[in-house]
Amino acid sequence: MEAGMVTPAPALVRFSGIQKTYDGEHLVVKNLDLDIRKGEFITLLGPSGSGKTTTLMMLAGFEVPTHGEIYLADRPIKTMPPHKRDIGMVFQNYALFPHLTIAENIAFPLSVRKTSKADVQERVAAALRMIKMENLAHRRPGQLSGGQQQRVALARALVFNPQLVLMDEPLGALDKRLREQMQLEIKQLHETMGITIVYVTHDQSEALTMSDRIAVFNDGIVQQIDKPDALYEHPVNSFVAHFIGENNVLAGTVETVDKDYCRVALTGGGAVTARAVNVSGAGASTALSVRPERIAIVTDDSSSDGPNRLPARVQNTIYLGDHALAVLDVAGNGEFMVKLQPGAHGSLRHGKSVFITFRPEDCLALDPV
Ligand SMILES: Nc1ncnc2c1ncn2[C@@H]1O[C@H](COP(=O)(O)OP(=O)(O)OP(=O)(O)O)[C@@H](O)[C@H]1O
Ligand SMILES: [Mg+2]
Repeated sequence: MEAGMVTPAPALVRFSGIQKTYDGEHLVVKNLDLDIRKGEFITLLGPSGSGKTTTLMMLAGFEVPTHGEIYLADRPIKTMPPHKRDIGMVFQNYALFPHLTIAENIAFPLSVRKTSKADVQERVAAALRMIKMENLAHRRPGQLSGGQQQRVALARALVFNPQLVLMDEPLGALDKRLREQMQLEIKQLHETMGITIVYVTHDQSEALTMSDRIAVFNDGIVQQIDKPDALYEHPVNSFVAHFIGENNVLAGTVETVDKDYCRVALTGGGAVTARAVNVSGAGASTALSVRPERIAIVTDDSSSDGPNRLPARVQNTIYLGDHALAVLDVAGNGEFMVKLQPGAHGSLRHGKSVFITFRPEDCLALDPV
C-alpha cells in the first residue's frame, strides 16, 4: 500500500515503507512494512544492531522515521509527540524513579495524565495486586530485588490502560530462572488484559515462548514474520533457520529439482533429497538445514536404505539430563548434532562408525551461508 493512501485497516499498528538512517547514509531500518493486530503479542527478534530498538523507538515517538509512515488505529502518527500516543513502555534497566516509593512510581503516568486522586488510588492498588506487591508499596526501588523492580516497571506501563505496550529486552537483566518466571507472568497479563504487546528480544527461546507472531530482523530487514511453530518448521532462508532453534548445516550443490523436492550432492561426499525451499534450480549452491531431533543414528549396516542415509563418525556425546547429544562428523561437518534419548549415548564411543538417516521433508535446501 502507498504511504499516502489512508485506508482503514484491521491492524492496530501499521508500519508502511518505513526507513530510518541516523547518519544520512546507512539505513538501519531498510523498508519496513509490518501490521500489528489488536490484541496481538508480537516479538521483534534479531541479533544486536539489527534495528529492533530503532523500530520500537519510532513507534513510541522518540525517533522519527526518515521515510514512510506509521499508523496507530488508522491515524498517521509520525509527527505525534510520544505522550499523546497512549503507549506504555518497559525497558531493560527498569528506569524507576529512585526517590519515589513503589506506589508513587506506579502512580506517575496517572499524575501526568491528570487523573483524579481517588482514581489514582484505586488504580495503583489494583496494579499492586496484579504484580502481587501490595505489601511493598511504600518501599523505594533500591530496596527491591531485580525481579520485583521489573514487576513495578510492568505495573507502571500498564496502570493507565494503554492500548499498546512496548517492551525492549525487559527481562535482560534478570537471571535465567526469574526470566522464565516473568515470561509466563507477562504472557498471562497479556492474555487476561487483552492488550497489544510489541516485545523486543534477541533471545529466540524467549520469543518462541511468549509470542503470537515473531518478526525476525537482520541488518534492518525483516526476514520473516510468522507464528513460532511456522518459523521453526518453515524458515524461508538460512538466516532464520539458524536463528530459530538448533540446526545442522551441510553444504552442497543442487543436482535436480522435482516440484517441491531436490536432490543435492554434498560438498563433503554423498547425496540427499531435500525440500527445495530457497534454491534457484539445478547447479545452485545450497546450505541444507536439518534439526538435531529429526535425525536417527543407525549402527546396523543391514537396516533399510532410505533416500537420506549418510556415513558418520562419532566425535563425542554430551549428557544433558533430559536428553543427550551425539556430536558427529558428517560429510565434512565435524559438529553435526543429533539429539538422543537420555541413556542412548552409552554405546556411541569416540571414533565409532555409524549412519544417520532423516526424512526428505526434514531436510531444507536453503540459500548458501
Ligand atoms: N542514536 C543513534 N545514533 C546513531 N546510530 C544509532 C543510534 N541508535 C542506534 N544506532 C545504530 O543503528 C543500528 C540499529 O540499532 P538498534 O539499537 O535499533 O539495534 P537493536 O536491534 O536494538 O540491537 P540490540 O540487540 O543490540 O539492542 C546499529 O547499527 C546502531 O549502532
Ligand atoms: Mg536494542
